[in-house]
Parts: sequence; C-alpha cells; structure tokens
Amino acid sequence: ERSKEQRLLRLAHEVEACRRCPLYRTRTRAVVSDGSHKARLVFVGEAPGREEDLAGIPFVGAAGQLLTKMIGAIGMRRTDVYICNVLKDRPPGNRAPLPEEMEACLPFLEEQLAIVRPTIICTLGAVATKALLGPHISITKVRGQVRDYHGTLLIPTFHPAYLLRNPPAKKFAWEDLKKVKRLLETGG
Ligand code: URA
Repeated sequence: ERSKEQRLLRLAHEVEACRRCPLYRTRTRAVVSDGSHKARLVFVGEAPGREEDLAGIPFVGAAGQLLTKMIGAIGMRRTDVYICNVLKDRPPGNRAPLPEEMEACLPFLEEQLAIVRPTIICTLGAVATKALLGPHISITKVRGQVRDYHGTLLIPTFHPAYLLRNPPAKKFAWEDLKKVKRLLETGG
C-alpha cells in the first residue's frame, strides 16, 4: 500500500494540474495543504486569499495568523495538524466560492480526508461546514456541536476571518477548540 505521504503528494500534483473549473486561469499557485499527514486534527477553511495564492500555503494571511494562535491556544503547533480548504484556488477578489467551483473541487478535499483519516475534523465557517455536512446547515446553530462525517468526528467553529470582524465571537470559538482538545485527549 502506498504511504499517506505518497498518496498526498500524488494528490497535490493532481491539484496543481487541475483544470476542472476556470479558477486555474487566475491562480498564482494552487493551495493544497500545510502541516502533517500524520495529524489527528484537520482544519478545513474556505478558499485561499491573496497571500495564500502567492505563497501556495493555506492560512498565512491575517486570518491565518489568528488560526495559528488558535492552534497554539490548545497547546499545538501548525506542524501537529493538517490544514486545508474547500477550494484549492483563490476566487478572484476573494469572492465567495461558486457552487460549481465547490462541486469541482470537493473530491480533492474528500480524498485528503480519506488519506489523512484524522480523529477530528474542525470546519472553519459556513462554507466548509456546508461542504461537509450539507447545504442546509447553519453555522451559528451547529458550531461547537459534535457531528459525524463518514465515521469521523466533525466539530464546526467560526472562521478566523469572521472572528477578526467580530471579536466578541472569539469566546465561542475558544469553547469549541477546548472541546476539540478534550476529544483528542480522550481518543475521540
Ligand atoms: N481563509 C481561508 O478560508 N483559507 C485560507 O487558506 C486563508 C484564508
């Protein structure tokens, strides 16, 4: 059997060559993942922004710096977790992902999750949460709840970009992350 690392490398090459939707025309770099293929915790965001598009690394801009702090707040480092997005290419001007872009790109995320097989998936914001749990889910209703994604625990929380615009919501994200940490410690 191929190793997780080999399978993820092959997937990354596929993403970099992908032309399933028009976003490849405007991207600088495809943004596949950061962190460890051995991670027990996966964070799923929405799509690369300007800084991520330039760097080819997810969550390196302002929201990314907050995510890095959130990971630190539960005693972990970015290299202990696996970080990815629903869309691998930046939507121009950071507009919201289109349904057809999400449909085209979702198989890559599903494959990433199937290869890494974490104990917990933490979705960041409405787009990632809907992508994995279904379009009728409300992030304000489900955040902090333990859900199921194909047999894996999934906990939605607020997107760090939302937290930057709404600092009072940070206390809820902090509660959600403490729950994530507790579940990781008890083995899920
Ligand atoms: N916002 C996201 O959802 N993903 C990133 O990679 C950066 C910002």
